[in-house]
Amino acid sequence: MTARVLGWDFPPNRVNDLERGLLATAKELGVPDTPDAIINWLSNISWNAKELDILSTHLTIGETYFFREKPGLDVFQKQVIPEIIKERRGKDQYLRIWCAGCCTGEEPYTLAIILKEMIPDINNWKITILATDINRNFLKKAQSGVYGQWSFRETSQDIKSKYFTMAAGRNWEINQEIKKMITFSLLNLADDLYPSALTNTQNHDVVFCRNVLMYFTPEQIKLVAKRFNQSLVENGCLITSVVELNDHYFSDFATCSFGEGIYYRKSGRRTEVGNSDPLTKLVSKSRSAKTASPRSKTKPVATLPARLATIPIDAALSKKPLLGTLELKKLFEKGQYHQCVGHCQLLLSNTPSDVEVLNILVKSYANMGNLAEAKRWGEILLSMDGAKADSYYLLATVLMEENMPAKAESLLKRGLYLNPHHLLSHFLMGSIATRENKSKIAAKHFQNVIELLSSFHENDIVPGSEGLTAGRIKEIVASLHSL
Ligand SMILES: C[S@@+](CC[C@H](N)C(=O)[O-])C[C@H]1O[C@@H](n2cnc3c(N)ncnc32)[C@H](O)[C@@H]1O
Repeated sequence: MTARVLGWDFPPNRVNDLERGLLATAKELGVPDTPDAIINWLSNISWNAKELDILSTHLTIGETYFFREKPGLDVFQKQVIPEIIKERRGKDQYLRIWCAGCCTGEEPYTLAIILKEMIPDINNWKITILATDINRNFLKKAQSGVYGQWSFRETSQDIKSKYFTMAAGRNWEINQEIKKMITFSLLNLADDLYPSALTNTQNHDVVFCRNVLMYFTPEQIKLVAKRFNQSLVENGCLITSVVELNDHYFSDFATCSFGEGIYYRKSGRRTEVGNSDPLTKLVSKSRSAKTASPRSKTKPVATLPARLATIPIDAALSKKPLLGTLELKKLFEKGQYHQCVGHCQLLLSNTPSDVEVLNILVKSYANMGNLAEAKRWGEILLSMDGAKADSYYLLATVLMEENMPAKAESLLKRGLYLNPHHLLSHFLMGSIATRENKSKIAAKHFQNVIELLSSFHENDIVPGSEGLTAGRIKEIVASLHSL
């Protein structure tokens, strides 16, 4: 059971922990403390979101500290980040980092401090550091940013005095400028909610997942590895701890080394999630099956609709018959984004203001991780007469990938003006407000989402949501709302 729903393996030497965790969960859920009641509870339990949530707070291991395991941090600081910065400096200055299994926050804060130390013009960069964990109590501590001495066992005095201030009870609090670089969020890695725009888990440059998968079953490690692969841009890197390195599990990645560190890099091959769950298939089909290289130099094609006629069309493509919108959508659903881009350009050279084609073009660029082109075409799309709330939402998701919540919010407001019932716009507004600690605004938008979902059955797929069911979106709202 724990393997399926939480990913974890419980070898014989940890069975006592499992028993303790289950008993504590039963107690918290109000199950009477008698063997019969507990056996009855265990045989009938469905492991809904609330039950899993409680179980995870009792079973997860919260061992972590700042600047843990130098080899992995060196890979990040001396190899991976300099490479990306060199490539994007002066062009599209953004970085997307996901720290999965972030525990009480020491690891993502360490990454933020490293970036602050190494990028002199950091304010000119849009930096996303998403930090997720399954244990909401850990996340609450992470959000408070207050730590005791033990968390600093590998931290130099210089760094400590530069980025922390003394707090009550011999504790230290992380400075605001570092704190605000991180977005904490609840996410179960054994769940199929990633990669997805809704959980902001797509198009990452680096995924850090250290000392988490060592507790997972081999089957779950393989599934998580595939999903991480899909959550990364081409050439993106996965950094695990040394003990978790295992090429067998990470066979979709190229194994690389730097100094004493070994890490995984997403290579050109496409991966499929080997899971029969239809939801997983839908999610992977719509947004994550990337086939193209976002860091490859895609030729800029136009800046304004008026210039559409001058798009340089691929010669081979221009000889092919024009696709209809339905065929174009099928191509998109198959994840053939490069081809989609070519066909969209061809179609747009005939009908420059075709909103549907523009929509597919923006989504294709976004799914290729080419956010600059996605943004540029998104703006063109919004300048068209037929642009709807969907188009505003689409561009807002692209802006969120570049960590531009204020701009995303203003687009969402414009979209909601056109269609006050646009469910996904309310969802994203609620997520942005949660992240900015504006709980009243978040509550209002999430309330709208729940109301709009009432016209769906639990298992209905919500349009535009990358294959998520109404029931699933309710669960995400509940978890965001209670953080
Ligand atoms: C030992 S800590 C590692 C923290 C940090 N990454 C580090 O290396 O210092 C393991 C973390 O993984 C989290 N975790 C365990 N299972 C998880 C799951 N299924 N989904 C998300 N997080 C999980 C735990 O809650 C815990 O915070």
